Amino acid sequence: MNLFNVYPLYDVTPVKAEGTYVWDENNTKYLDLYGGHGVISIGHAHPQYVAALSEQLNKIGFYSNSVQNPLQQQLAQKLGEVSGCEKYNLFLCNSGAEANENALKLASFVTKKSRVISFNNAFHGRTSAAVAVTDNKSINAPINLQQKVTFLPLNNIKLVIHEIGKGDVAAVIIEGIQGVGGLDQGTAKFFKKVRKVCKKSKVPLILDEIQSGYGRSGKFFAFQYHNIKPDIITTAKGMANGFPIGGVLISKKYKAKLGMLGTTFGGNHLACAAAISVLDIIEKENLIDNVNEVYNYFLKEIKTVPKVKKVKGKGLMLGIEFNFDVGELRKKLIYDKHIFTGGSNNKKLLRILPPLTITKEQINDFIIALKEIVS
Ligand SMILES: Cc1ncc(COP(=O)(O)O)c(C=O)c1O
Repeated sequence: MNLFNVYPLYDVTPVKAEGTYVWDENNTKYLDLYGGHGVISIGHAHPQYVAALSEQLNKIGFYSNSVQNPLQQQLAQKLGEVSGCEKYNLFLCNSGAEANENALKLASFVTKKSRVISFNNAFHGRTSAAVAVTDNKSINAPINLQQKVTFLPLNNIKLVIHEIGKGDVAAVIIEGIQGVGGLDQGTAKFFKKVRKVCKKSKVPLILDEIQSGYGRSGKFFAFQYHNIKPDIITTAKGMANGFPIGGVLISKKYKAKLGMLGTTFGGNHLACAAAISVLDIIEKENLIDNVNEVYNYFLKEIKTVPKVKKVKGKGLMLGIEFNFDVGELRKKLIYDKHIFTGGSNNKKLLRILPPLTITKEQINDFIIALKEIVS
């Protein structure tokens, strides 16, 4: 059997990883400024994380959601404490798309409505409702086009008010900071106004923090820069450092009904142990402070690199915009300098999403490599 060929691949085969580095089968060492697409939060193969998973696997790795699993409550408690979102309930699933799918479904259950407001260039995943609210026609199949979605430009509150005023809106969904779309974000003023209009019209506001959450922006969740409280928050990527998991944080005003949402694998013992360990390490190693320190250092140093047009994003969710397509630059970084980076819909944007443990010295290595290539 062959693989269903859907991914454009770099010709690199990682076989080992530690901290901020990855090694291929020829023992070549790469600096990981991509974190497997913003997934590696506490660094690769963190010894405490490896021990927590191994210990859990030796006890019980999985049982279904038909029996008690105290690790789920432990995770909910810890996530509430570390994120400052104690006043939410948690639904556990397996991926980002699944988190958004459940968030949208819940909003539709609550409002009994079905049209969703999303934003230009949004990416929310590939499953049914999640892909329908994703602004990319090429990944929407005819079956997804049945969903009622209105895409609006970011930062145009008048249009949001106008659409909500029609009375048929089930949810507004927005990324804390856009990821795949190219690191654009709503202004604080816009987020605050959207919050207000959603509240007034009883439309659930869903904050997609799948990529921007878990400390990546320099706050636990990126929306925390704007002093707002969403009704629903979705999270995934950094949550368990690569072990598949997703979470939906749900305002306590929305009451659960038995059977309303569900999944076989979501919240299994191993996933919970991984996610608890990640939160322990984020807290113990003050990783969010590190994100802010390294970010400030990066902002200073990137000014010394020629041809940089703009820096976008926050914390360790960053885009460096050049006035040329970065495809060749990314190839040179990976094959000549052995540095992993990311791309986006904006072909001129080099994206970096490193583990939150990255040091200033490692950022410096990147800056030196970048200068050597672009100068
Ligand atoms: C903002 C955002 N939402 C949702 C998703 C989908 O997550 P997953 O690939 O885990 O389904 C992604 C993935 O890149 C994302 O960046």
